[in-house]
Amino acid sequence: MAFASTKQLALDARAGGYAVPAVNIVDGISIAAAVRAADAAGSPIILQTSVKTVKYFGARTLADAARAAADEASVPVALHLDHCPDRAVITEAIAHGWSSVLFDASDRDFETARAETAEVTAEAHAAGVDVESEIENIVGVEDGVGSDDPNVHYYSDEALVGVAAETQTDLIAPALGTAHGLYKASPVLLVDRVRSLAALTDIPIVLHGGTGLSPEEFAAFIDAGVSKINISTQLKLAYMHSARDHLAEAERSGKWEPVKLFDQIGAAVGEVITENATLFRSAGKAAAAVTA
Ligand code: 13P
Repeated sequence: MAFASTKQLALDARAGGYAVPAVNIVDGISIAAAVRAADAAGSPIILQTSVKTVKYFGARTLADAARAAADEASVPVALHLDHCPDRAVITEAIAHGWSSVLFDASDRDFETARAETAEVTAEAHAAGVDVESEIENIVGVEDGVGSDDPNVHYYSDEALVGVAAETQTDLIAPALGTAHGLYKASPVLLVDRVRSLAALTDIPIVLHGGTGLSPEEFAAFIDAGVSKINISTQLKLAYMHSARDHLAEAERSGKWEPVKLFDQIGAAVGEVITENATLFRSAGKAAAAVTA
């Protein structure tokens, strides 16, 4: 089916008490594997890409591959551009029919972030594309974007929701104590902040830095109101470790079959999706989700 609206998937999830897995795919193998696993689980899915991946393949190639996978699936599939501070790449994704973009203005001061987010939402909405907005710092560097410096930009709940409402942001990515990448120390999770933001607004709240959280922590965030959960590192590790294991076995056996390598990577990626669809309670919820 056609790409779903990221905003609508997240609104449905919030109403239904679950969260949609938003997974960072890196190529055609991971796109196909993620969509097939979501389809088998009956879960809506958001495929997202880093700017680095877009720069490697091009927005059109990624959109075509994701659309082909979505066309074969019976669950809603959205295509989202993750952390993007670069307005030209946002314009490219919009032009190629992506469902949504994350305009990452966390490197801008408050007034600049507010003004530019309004410009991006106006541009995206004119093409029917949703905008996730980030004006606070979420710790960790994701494919070259972000910072390890916490709390450079951190605002009151009222200020954050005020900017989101004023700029017509479709999804908010607040700082919630999580970090991108593997945790070096136990994070201090701001579950209460989600509750407080959810009491102020119906705009869907996104949890970044999903890799490494426990089932109980995911449940607490979802119960508090998070409805899109981002997973990247777990998927990258599954991809690379399965490739490493396959290549080691090929070296040992002397059998070099690329399609078998793709199968093994796809199976590892699919397992990540299946696990997260269960943890985020999105498995079996696809029938209720609405497409754009
Ligand atoms: P992890 O890499 O920690 O899973 O975070 C993913 C993310 O938030 C992508 O935006």
